[in-house]
Amino acid sequence: MPETQTMIPRATPLTPRKKAILVGASGGIGTTLVYRLAREGYVLALVDRSEDKLKALCDEINQTYRETRAVPYEHDVTVYDRIPDLFRKVVADLGGLDLFVYVAGVIYFPAMDEFNFAEDYKMVEVNLLGAMAWMSQVAPVFQSMRGGQIVGVSSVAGDRGRVGNPGYNTSKAGFTCYLEALRNRLTRHGVNVITIKPGMVKTEMLNLPNAPKPTLAVTPEQAAEGIWKAIKKRKQVAYVSGLWRWVMLALTHVPSVIFRRLSF
Ligand SMILES: NC(=O)c1ccc[n+]([C@@H]2O[C@H](COP(=O)([O-])OP(=O)(O)OC[C@H]3O[C@@H](n4cnc5c(N)ncnc54)[C@H](OP(=O)(O)O)[C@@H]3O)[C@@H](O)[C@H]2O)c1
Repeated sequence: MPETQTMIPRATPLTPRKKAILVGASGGIGTTLVYRLAREGYVLALVDRSEDKLKALCDEINQTYRETRAVPYEHDVTVYDRIPDLFRKVVADLGGLDLFVYVAGVIYFPAMDEFNFAEDYKMVEVNLLGAMAWMSQVAPVFQSMRGGQIVGVSSVAGDRGRVGNPGYNTSKAGFTCYLEALRNRLTRHGVNVITIKPGMVKTEMLNLPNAPKPTLAVTPEQAAEGIWKAIKKRKQVAYVSGLWRWVMLALTHVPSVIFRRLSF
């Protein structure tokens, strides 16, 4: 038996353990969600591209709970070919899977008169294609299990094409649409697919060059709490901040002819 498998505590009738994969675990929202899920008793496979950050995070969680609750898997989501084998290994190590969360993402903020295909390409690669590559592995397993939950952290940025960041808007609009399609396919098989739209969250993303001023921004802890509530309630679409739901409801109804004149 591989070493990781022997380290992970087995579920017993008195200590049922849910198992989760979290892709994008060492970022702002990802890390706080890892802590939240560990508190709920999940055993977690943490996937991200920085081995050192993942190891430090796993060590801290495992020391807190005095058992192996988190296992690191170094992986760059744009190396799509590696995903099928890695997914099989992780599920074997965990001894099953109940929850899959994709929170990895990148953003670049172009200047208002800049068009940068290289950066747009990177955002589509990580925010959309990486998610599709992982979820193409997860979906058939959950479909045949007739259970499981898939969570995608998308964005309100995908609700409308805005002047500020066409590439990011496109990556998130594609992701939101993909998640809706998965939900429409999988709900009939007992699988819960959740789209998270966090609004603005005070993470490193908002400190990048050209980033907009935070508006109605929440902390990563509030975001993680909102995501956990959505998981617990088996929601379909969840806005972390209720205010963003109303803002976006209004904005999606603004006619194009007017929206085009706004700088939003
Ligand atoms: N912050 C916001 O205001 C906000 C609002 C709406 C939606 N979101 C979405 O929420 C998610 C998390 O964002 P965050 O604010 O927590 O940002 P963050 O702190 O930058 O976290 C992003 C995470 O994705 C990982 N990642 C990036 N590229 C990757 C790759 N190629 N392979 C594997 N992992 C990769 C990063 O790893 P590294 O540490 O190695 O870079 C990091 O762990 C993103 O999808 C973002 O679009 C954020």
